[in-house]
Amino acid sequence: MILITVVSGFTFGDVITSSLANGPLVLRHELGHSIIEVGEEYDGGSEYFGVNAYHDLAEPVPWAHWLSPQALSVPHVERSVMPIQLYPWTMLNTSAPWSVTFPSSGTYPRHLVRFSLSGLSESTDLKVELDGNDLEWVPRPDIGLDRWHYDIPQDRALGPGPHELKFTLLSGKRVGVAQLCSVELLEFGNEQEFVATPGHYGIYPTFSHKNETSYRPTNDDCLMRSVTSPNFCKVCIEGLWLSLLRRVNLIDGIKEDCRQLVFEGITDPHWVKTIDVELVPLAQFREVQLAQESYAIKWWKDGVLLKEFTNRTSLKIADTVALGTYSVEVKLSTEEVRVDRDNLLSDGVTYQVTNTCAPV
Ligand SMILES: *[C@@H]1O[C@H](CO)[C@@H](O)[C@H](O)[C@H]1NC(C)=O
Ligand SMILES: *[C@@H]1O[C@H](CO)[C@@H](O)[C@H](O)[C@H]1NC(C)=O
Ligand SMILES: *[C@@H]1O[C@H](CO)[C@@H](O)[C@H](O)[C@H]1NC(C)=O
Repeated sequence: MILITVVSGFTFGDVITSSLANGPLVLRHELGHSIIEVGEEYDGGSEYFGVNAYHDLAEPVPWAHWLSPQALSVPHVERSVMPIQLYPWTMLNTSAPWSVTFPSSGTYPRHLVRFSLSGLSESTDLKVELDGNDLEWVPRPDIGLDRWHYDIPQDRALGPGPHELKFTLLSGKRVGVAQLCSVELLEFGNEQEFVATPGHYGIYPTFSHKNETSYRPTNDDCLMRSVTSPNFCKVCIEGLWLSLLRRVNLIDGIKEDCRQLVFEGITDPHWVKTIDVELVPLAQFREVQLAQESYAIKWWKDGVLLKEFTNRTSLKIADTVALGTYSVEVKLSTEEVRVDRDNLLSDGVTYQVTNTCAPV
């Protein structure tokens, strides 16, 4: 079986793959580009824009409403630097290792070696060394020849000066398939200077292929940074809501009808005008509740609030007084959207009732 992974990070979303390990991950990531309309969060890219990107520290933080209390009380950029980042996309051989030398300032207490490989499925296939120390790379189980991403965090400082990262192919039978796709080394401040904890929202530096700095909301929470992350970060999820609601109205339609109520002992039919608002089935109208969501619904007739119909999708009014102008306003609340500048979570329609139900 041949597995091909073609990802175009620049044109956003051209993906052809038969890879079960990578296909869904890459698809989610590319959909992030096309639906949320955000750029990358990983280092070494060229496009950083949208709700998850911040460029000028003199400007307000775009995701200020998501910042963790700790990040709010002491605003700072999480301390980190990227001394090396490459996409070698190189086939490995057994005659010579692939290596790269990079400098460290020696001022960061922790670092992370991050790389991706394909064609390597056993730990005895490859040795990864930093300054001659075996990093004891272990492949993802069942990865076969497919590409996968590896993170090896090291809780110690690199000394000042040059360092060497080396990839040695050990297994001759992997020649022709073993590939080193990407290589990166990041250095971090201590736990106060750089919060690596998932769920922490702050100002994290991202380094482009030209080593230009922009900022992202979380360390590694977002699948726009790391395709192996299971979720978008909250900033991107909020962006997804707003992006979808820019194209979709919460009110699908409004429907007028007549109903006849029959009371015992009264021979005349009693007509009732009904007006139904059809909403996109979110909040209390979802089949499966996904998050804290609610719709608030308000009705007016000729400018007068119809309190008794608050939060109801169906309005019933005696036919004799039914003629007039009706308005309905809906407002969706979800814990996933904290700021809605363009009122995309609100919708409203005005509707004229021009006929009575009872035949004249
Ligand atoms: C990026 O810039 C920082 C700060 O100047 C430097 O320490 C680091 O080595 C640079 N990394 C690369 C890959 O050029
Ligand atoms: C083997 O790999 C090394 C490191 O990538 C490279 O410099 C060298 O040209 C390769 N040799 C052969 C015979 O392909
Ligand atoms: C209507 O629903 C909203 C959202 O759940 C709620 O906050 C509000 O109190 C409700 N109003 C009434 C009158 O029930």
